[in-house]
Order: sequence, then structure tokens, then C-alpha cells
Amino acid sequence: MQSVALTALKGGVGKTSTAVNLAALAAAAGHRTLLWDIDPQAGATACLGVKPKLRGGAQRLLGGDRDLSGAVRRSSIDRLDVLPGDVSLREADVIVSSNRKPRRSLKRILSAVARDYDVVLVDCPPGVGPATEVLVRSVDLLLVPVVPAPLDLRALDRFADVIDDLGAPPELLAPFLSLVDRRKPLHRKLMDEVRTERRFLASAVPVSSAVERMPMEQVPTVIAAPRSLASLALRDLWGEVADRIDL
Ligand SMILES: Nc1ncnc2c1ncn2[C@@H]1O[C@H](COP(=O)(O)OP(=O)(O)O)[C@@H](O)[C@H]1O
Ligand SMILES: [Mg+2]
Repeated sequence: MQSVALTALKGGVGKTSTAVNLAALAAAAGHRTLLWDIDPQAGATACLGVKPKLRGGAQRLLGGDRDLSGAVRRSSIDRLDVLPGDVSLREADVIVSSNRKPRRSLKRILSAVARDYDVVLVDCPPGVGPATEVLVRSVDLLLVPVVPAPLDLRALDRFADVIDDLGAPPELLAPFLSLVDRRKPLHRKLMDEVRTERRFLASAVPVSSAVERMPMEQVPTVIAAPRSLASLALRDLWGEVADRIDL
């Protein structure tokens, strides 16, 4: 099983929207897919119309003493299951901090699902709290949406520093451009600059009303509006991600 986490220091950059769409694309490609929502806002869970309820709460999930099978929910999409997020996850950092072997617990969760899934996509809350920190060191790829704006690029550099401090290799980090608005000269300029940087994936997801509608429609953009520019970009992005994780 391969694992990909959507992470960033910033909120509102497209982590959740990307996680849901990539999960749908992975499932459509025939992979048994799990979308693990570890954000207490439970946006990814809501986008798929799954009830945001984690049986036993975050304590049971992250405290290291549970069997996951009861917590996983089916989505309406073939081969796509959801490990829902809920508000109890706001305590995830406290739970993980008080666990003496947090990395082991997390690895155990991942290995418990490894039998049933080919790929797990994890939608993280913004920032790098203890829970995300442990997770970051347990996955195969960190996808980081970056809006082409000066402060967002700066936040990416800080995020890369954090990853480095955690002892993770720089190749783990896969930034891509998100919420790109080509009408903005600054976006165009920064996009051109970023494209010369090897660390960035080539795909860039444009601002799109089709993506914005997803929480209301509760259907992934790539299914609801497969021909939108955003869906084309998301399919390219999935291709690059699948390549990187050898899927
Ligand atoms: N490509 C896009 N085009 C238009 N709106 C988007 C796009 N991606 C995300 N959004 C919207 O921006 C907001 C933040 O996106 P979200 O995926 O929740 O980001 P994050 O998980 O990083 O906080 C949401 O309202 C979402 O609907
Ligand atoms: Mg989110």
C-alpha cells in the first residue's frame, strides 16, 4: 500500500479539494482507495457525503488501541472508502503527544489498512502539529498545494525546513500549484518562475467554480465536471503522483 498526505502550513490552499479528487481518480483507476480525514473540520468527509462521525473518537483511533474496520465508511464511489474526520480530532495533537510511541501507533494504523487498500490519501489539517508531524514521517509522499503568491511560496520554504528538521528526505515533498488564476499577472509571473524549479510537479490546478461547488454537490469535481479545466489538471496531477509512488 502506498500513502500520500495532503499537507501545508497554510489553510485554504486546496488540500481537502485535492485529496477528495485524487482519491476519486485513484479509485477510478482501479485501486482500492482509502481517504483518511484527520482534519477536525472533516471537509473531505463532508465532500463525499459521509457522516463525520468517528466511532470511539480520535482517542480510540490514535491512542493505539483499536481495530479500524469498524471506523471505515463506504463512499458512494466504487473502491473508495473513507476514514471519517470529526471534531474529536481537535485533540489529536494532545493524544499523540501523550502517546509514548506515537510513530509506532500510526504505523500500526497504516499497516492495519495496508491489507485492504492499494493507496491511502490523508487529508491533514493546516500546520504541523504533533499528529501531522508523526504522519509526515510515515507516508510515501507529501503533496503540498501552493498558491502562486509570495507569502505562500515563503510558507512552502518554511514547510520544507520543518520537513528537513524532522529528518525526512527532501524528495518526500511534492509541491504543486493550486488555485491558479491566470488573469492575475502576479500568478502568471510566479508560475513561470516556479516552473523552472525542479521540486515542483508540473501540474497546476486552476481556480474553478466546479471545484468550489464540490462541498454542496458532494460529488468529486472529476466526476461531476470531468471536462472542466480543473478536472484535466487534477487528472494530470494524479498521473504525476501515481508515477512518484509507483502505482
Ligand atoms: N481549484 C479551486 N478553484 C476554486 N475554489 C477552490 C479550488 N480549490 C479549493 N477551492 C475552495 O477554496 C476553499 C479552500 O479549499 P480547501 O480544499 O478546503 O483547502 P484546505 O484544505 O487547504 O483548507 C474552499 O472553499 C474550496 O471550495
Ligand atoms: Mg482542508
